[in-house]
Amino acid sequence: MSEHQTTHQAEEDARNEQIKIWLNGRIVPKAEALVSVYDSGFMLGDGVWEGLRLYNGTWAFVEEHLDRLFEAAKAIDLDIGMTQKEVFQAIIDTQSANDMTTDAHARLMVTRGVKTRPFQHPSLSRQGPTVTIIMEHSKPKIARPIRLATVPHIRGLPMTQDPKLNSHSKLNCILACIAAEKAGADEALMLDLHGFVNTTNACNFFIIRKGAVWTSTGDYCMNGITRQKVIDLCRANDIPVYERNYSLVDTYGADEAFLTGTFGAQTPVGEVDGRVIGDGAQGPVTTRIQELYKALIQRETA
Ligand SMILES: Cc1ncc(COP(=O)(O)O)c(C=O)c1O
Repeated sequence: MSEHQTTHQAEEDARNEQIKIWLNGRIVPKAEALVSVYDSGFMLGDGVWEGLRLYNGTWAFVEEHLDRLFEAAKAIDLDIGMTQKEVFQAIIDTQSANDMTTDAHARLMVTRGVKTRPFQHPSLSRQGPTVTIIMEHSKPKIARPIRLATVPHIRGLPMTQDPKLNSHSKLNCILACIAAEKAGADEALMLDLHGFVNTTNACNFFIIRKGAVWTSTGDYCMNGITRQKVIDLCRANDIPVYERNYSLVDTYGADEAFLTGTFGAQTPVGEVDGRVIGDGAQGPVTTRIQELYKALIQRETA
């Protein structure tokens, strides 16, 4: 069995030890980018975040990312204290401080800020939000198709902790990932509460059967920007695509499977619960979608 890997693996890049971080309006060296132990994010996972990718000098689909961030902040009643334009400027400033032109990934995080006392009530977070941008040089690198394992942790109903929210508290997903890792897989395949295949702990999930692309209805997973781009590309290029309920039987018997996310674009899946998907290697429909996505990025960033 080859070594464990993750879906968010990138080429080693020594420059990442010297990066500068945007923290509450200041750009500081990584070693000085520190937040308080009283921070709502550290203490309670009380915050929201976005992951963005830089291609050819342009942050891909940045409006969609910022819209989703502001929507999430509104949903948790958190005032970012900046306009979308100001947040975008902070991204650009961090990029230029780090002298980055392409192949960079940003994690933009907003928490409810430093608390007055170490307890949960949001009224104790009075000092304004903590806003920070970690921007790293990043070229995704996976050695082989990803292995998934289904786990007992499910994607819940929206009234518990809406799985569409990119919240800092990701414990449900982390526990899912730990269970998958203990089962010898790289990442967890999570079901919805009816037992239909939904998503992985950190990416959206697609299967391909007889030339058609299937993904979940979208009800219990992150409304992934890459997920939507893949659906749109299939529709525009006469590749049948369905957002539907489907089971593990459909999944084990699929010809191909892949994951989507801003970090890795489309990542092939070779195995689910010990069942080899197709012949275990990246399949032709996945390759076609990767090519269409690359061309889309080229157009968007030209
Ligand atoms: C649970 C989960 N699923 C999927 C995604 C992928 O979404 P996107 O394509 O917008 O990066 C993310 C990324 O934030 C995520 O956290």
